[in-house]
Amino acid sequence: MPIYGTRPEAIKMAPIVTELKRSEDMDCFVTVTGQHRSMLDQVNSLFEIVPDHDLNIFEPGQSLNGILSRTIDGLDKLFTVNRPDAVVVQGDTTTSTAGAIAAFYQGIPVVHVEAGLRSHNLFSPFPEEANRKMTSQIASLHLAPTTTSRDNLLRENIPAQNIVVTGNTVIDALFMTIEKNVPFTDPRLEQLAADGSRILLVTTHRRENQGEAMRGMGRALARIADAEPDLTMVVPLHKNPAVRSAVMPAIENKSNIIVSEPLDYGEFCRLLAMSHLVLTDSGGVQEEAPSLGVPVLVMRENTERPEAVEAGVVKLIGTDEDRIVAEVNALLHDETLYASMSEAMNPYGDGTAATRSVAAVAALH
Ligand code: UD1
Ligand code: UDP
Repeated sequence: MPIYGTRPEAIKMAPIVTELKRSEDMDCFVTVTGQHRSMLDQVNSLFEIVPDHDLNIFEPGQSLNGILSRTIDGLDKLFTVNRPDAVVVQGDTTTSTAGAIAAFYQGIPVVHVEAGLRSHNLFSPFPEEANRKMTSQIASLHLAPTTTSRDNLLRENIPAQNIVVTGNTVIDALFMTIEKNVPFTDPRLEQLAADGSRILLVTTHRRENQGEAMRGMGRALARIADAEPDLTMVVPLHKNPAVRSAVMPAIENKSNIIVSEPLDYGEFCRLLAMSHLVLTDSGGVQEEAPSLGVPVLVMRENTERPEAVEAGVVKLIGTDEDRIVAEVNALLHDETLYASMSEAMNPYGDGTAATRSVAAVAALH
């Protein structure tokens, strides 16, 4: 039973669900919590996944404890009537850790996809670093995307025989999606594709960046827009009102900034591939862009995804307004620097992580 609730979990779980459904050894029953509502449903419909169970826990302005308690309560009831032989959770959201706890308490083995990522700072990203560490304590099978994440688990005394290095299923999802080359619903984006403008793609949502850091990001975007009239910025906004109220005031009236609702995954992948540069605090986007050779500036102080930073495609720049402006400026105008950061590479996998993951699940006893 795959259990997931947010956009990034849905994207990264989709290739596993597809593979599980093909398996002749296992039946697959998908459970969603609905921690995200519209952003989750968007992804499920793209991958044609119809959940078997939907806890529908979403509430606007939901709290972490509310998500945790509604998920555990819903799963507890579900497991008494539909008890799976194992659950599969993904990543570090509250849905993911709540799913792991609910299953563990009922003696159901937990498979953890994307196990072993560590920033080594319990409070950043918050609460994700704590969430994934808690899940590691109770999982039976740890599917680590890279050898770096495997080594983090080994250092925490997770037995080697319970860890399998699979690659990250986000690359499977990206490859499955990008070849579709879907049309944009927003005519402004189709126009961008037609005229070949240079695009700076921006996303932000992290809890620890909300407030002043995010307002600073908005101001930085406005300054870049004024200084670079030939550049078009595209900002698909997360649904969280805290993100919108922080970023919007500075950017809403700029002619070269396109602000949009969250894009369908297919459209987002196409836009990512068209982009000259990405500015983000997203985890998933840091993993996808290197495969497409698009440089990424990460608006965070640390990352649990050091592989692409070490490879030189991703750079951590923090959230200081002046620094964001300076780093974007350098990449836009220094061709040698840009070339050094835009070589395509796949530190997070080759698109076959789901096959490896499902083989490891099938071998669970
Ligand atoms: C969650 C995850 C985070 C992940 C992010 C991906 C936790 C603690 N956080 O953070 O790890 O990186 O998802 O995007 O699990 N909202 C809607 N509609 C939606 C989704 C969200 O309106 O479809 C709004 C609601 O007002 C909600 C708010 O966004 O209260 C925040 O959503 P929530 O799931 O609590 O946290 P995220 O910041 O999205
Ligand atoms: N994404 C999307 N539409 C958007 C913005 C992002 O489909 O408008 C995808 C993106 O390709 C990546 C995932 O959502 O796979 C990342 O989600 P998010 O940044 O919300 O969460 P994180 O990865 O930081 O947990």
